[in-house]
Amino acid sequence: MTSYSPVVLQQTLNKPPKAQEVALRWDTVSADRYTDADYLRREFQNVWHKVWNIGGVAYQMPEPGDYLTAEIGVDSVIMVRQDDGSVKALFNSCPHRGTRITEATDGHAQQFSCPYHGWEFNRQGVVTRVPDEEDFSHSPCGTARLKEMRCEERFGLIWFNFDDNALPLAEFLGATIVQELESHRIEEMLRVLDMTAETKCNWKIITDNFNEAYHVKVLHPELVPYIAADYQDCQFDTFPNGHNRGWFPSFMPSKQYASDIIGEPLKSMAAMWELNSDDYVGRENWQQLRVDVQKAKREQGPAKGYTHYTYRSDYQLTDYVIYNLFPSNVITVGPDGVQLLRSRPHPTDPAQCLFDHWWLVNEVEGQTTTPSPAGGPDLAVEDAMHEHVRYGEKTLGTTADQDLSIAEMQQQGLASAGFQGYWLPDQERRVQAFHEYLNDLMSR
Ligand code: FES
Ligand SMILES: [Fe+2]
Repeated sequence: MTSYSPVVLQQTLNKPPKAQEVALRWDTVSADRYTDADYLRREFQNVWHKVWNIGGVAYQMPEPGDYLTAEIGVDSVIMVRQDDGSVKALFNSCPHRGTRITEATDGHAQQFSCPYHGWEFNRQGVVTRVPDEEDFSHSPCGTARLKEMRCEERFGLIWFNFDDNALPLAEFLGATIVQELESHRIEEMLRVLDMTAETKCNWKIITDNFNEAYHVKVLHPELVPYIAADYQDCQFDTFPNGHNRGWFPSFMPSKQYASDIIGEPLKSMAAMWELNSDDYVGRENWQQLRVDVQKAKREQGPAKGYTHYTYRSDYQLTDYVIYNLFPSNVITVGPDGVQLLRSRPHPTDPAQCLFDHWWLVNEVEGQTTTPSPAGGPDLAVEDAMHEHVRYGEKTLGTTADQDLSIAEMQQQGLASAGFQGYWLPDQERRVQAFHEYLNDLMSR
């Protein structure tokens, strides 16, 4: 584990500092990346086996021997806490004849044992015992092992990378993203939602969706009264290595909001901080409401149990920031928690993927439920059980459902002979930057 101390961003910062953006080439975004099985196969080699993937939440494996598993395409990874407190990530493929040695999503192991012929492994993945050891010309004991990969624990998450030559995670992410993610102290949060949905679209359709906010006023009109998601109010930054960031001021309506009078849910959100939204009539006063909420949260937050407000910068008390970490780890941070909204590729079918939705919250004294991150009923403040569903069987949260409602239609349209390539406005430049970085990796 890399050691670091949480960084407190300058408290008076009222938006993330603008980053120097990457230069775009305006490459053509071809359809085959969404539809072609051979492209998907090469993507595993050139992308998924080269990048840092999130394997799980660290608090779920506190003790030596605790383990979690994660899947990317055909590969399964076992992350196991070592006796010295570090974490190792091991391929879940037996060195005898390849069988997965566990199908559990988590557990505790003194040792691992392959269910086929009974080879045993210690927590480092080294073979310790095999049946009929005398029958081998060279004993595998002490020598054969589950193949190990790079692993880091950071921001309360376990990360793995198949590539032995990959940059360390912090270098891959870059200093700005590292500092800002550290400032949220995700390692102190509790995961209250953990869902995976089988979805009928390529994984990049979901990533593209989170790389732009152009669709918000059309697909998510219920956000207009309290999140200023119009591009003229937001800030979008592209970073090296394919990552980007979007900043969305909240506690103020979006430009599309039709009335001068602030309505629900913002009226109640303001009232919670003893502010009367009727004192902020007219759009020239909306910014002031947001600033006054920040002040009120700063003053009243700790006494109301929101102790995490003490280390937040001003904008972090009201706004949403989306960190899109290449290729598809979308981390959305809000005043009271973070969401992971992530797609993972299907092993063989480019027209399917898995969509993961996690919600990790700061615990507030006395609160037993917390609003769902994207609409729907409140959630219990307790460690969530993992749920695996097919898209449509169960809600993933209102906003995520709305996003996915369009995904299959886009997959179908992209496969059409009539698809002519993308025609993007500047506010969708994060989509373009993503595909250009993808092109760079795919052409290696
Ligand atoms: S495949 Fe694992 S012990 Fe044979
Ligand atoms: Fe959306």
